[in-house]
Amino acid sequence: MISSYDYLGLIGHPAIESAAVEAIHKYGTGTGGVRLLTGTTDLHCLLERELAAFKGTEAALTFSSGYLANLAVISALFGPSDRIIIDSKAHRSIVDACRLSRVPTERFDHNAPSSLKNKLDRGPGGRRTLIIIEGIYSMDGDICPLPEILELKKKYGACLMVDEAHSFGVLGAKGRGVDEHFKVASKDVDIWMGSLSKAIPSNGGFIAGPKDLIYYLQHAASPFIFSAALCPAAVAAAREALRVIEREPERLVKLNNNAVFLRELLKELGYDTGLSESPVIPIILGDQEKTLRLTRKLFALGIIAVPITKPAVSPGGTRIRLCATAAQDEAFLQDIIEGFRKVRISSSVLPKFLMEK
Ligand SMILES: Cc1ncc(COP(=O)(O)O)c(C=O)c1O
Repeated sequence: MISSYDYLGLIGHPAIESAAVEAIHKYGTGTGGVRLLTGTTDLHCLLERELAAFKGTEAALTFSSGYLANLAVISALFGPSDRIIIDSKAHRSIVDACRLSRVPTERFDHNAPSSLKNKLDRGPGGRRTLIIIEGIYSMDGDICPLPEILELKKKYGACLMVDEAHSFGVLGAKGRGVDEHFKVASKDVDIWMGSLSKAIPSNGGFIAGPKDLIYYLQHAASPFIFSAALCPAAVAAAREALRVIEREPERLVKLNNNAVFLRELLKELGYDTGLSESPVIPIILGDQEKTLRLTRKLFALGIIAVPITKPAVSPGGTRIRLCATAAQDEAFLQDIIEGFRKVRISSSVLPKFLMEK
């Protein structure tokens, strides 16, 4: 398996599993309702405090998935009289949230502050303007230019939201995210969003930011009010994972080393890894049939590498997407590379330039 989002290799970590099991013994398997009714346990409140502390914000709120966290925050805060400008590669949950809010939405060119500036210049543009970017883009593995975007946000008096589904636990010296990566203050970003199903090996999503924002969401965000609370085992697993990240910093070092190793060897084989500069490593093939045939050949060699096709990417951007994780050792990665070498040699489906290598 070379496509799992388990970036820090925490799935199966004994301390995290024990925490989840203990939570089941103490609280049971479900919460019996939504957060505002029976669904809030002390575990939920503790996790939210710990997420806020980890992200350097005043408060945080959890949701049953990252998808719902995006839906919740955008639809609760913004409406038809506002304006949202999103990166052209924004995740579907962000696009759906903008649709649900019925807010006029524009897209700027991927990771291009000059394109964002053009959009901002073309005011008047609504009561309030929200810019939405991602820490690490999930299909390409590149990182947002946060400092330049922060400058624009300040200059134009806009709000900024950063989706850290893939950068939380992954970027920065301690895994705190893209603000730590660029050494900018967490409070400069108005709304932080994260997932608990990637570097954190659980389920759920969260929004982190100022206290007032969190209080407001508790009483205005439909996915929080009308959907069941996270189950206790998921909350306990996420809490313990935060502690493991602090206790075992070597995982982050290994993750980054593995990402560089995997990406460089794939490039040496002639594969196009696109814009990747993180553990997310696409192999861009650009043709759906080629991609699916290559995936099957890898599967026959015992390698699970997922194909990414429409609607997750445009048809010309069809790819296989790999993820480096801290659970991989060198022998494992060499086996993967050997598999990619074999399919490259044996395959008649690869682009000509790959066959010639
Ligand atoms: C950028 C981004 N945002 C949000 C989500 C949704 O997160 P979750 O899987 O926790 O619903 C994903 C999921 O892959 C994602 O890639």
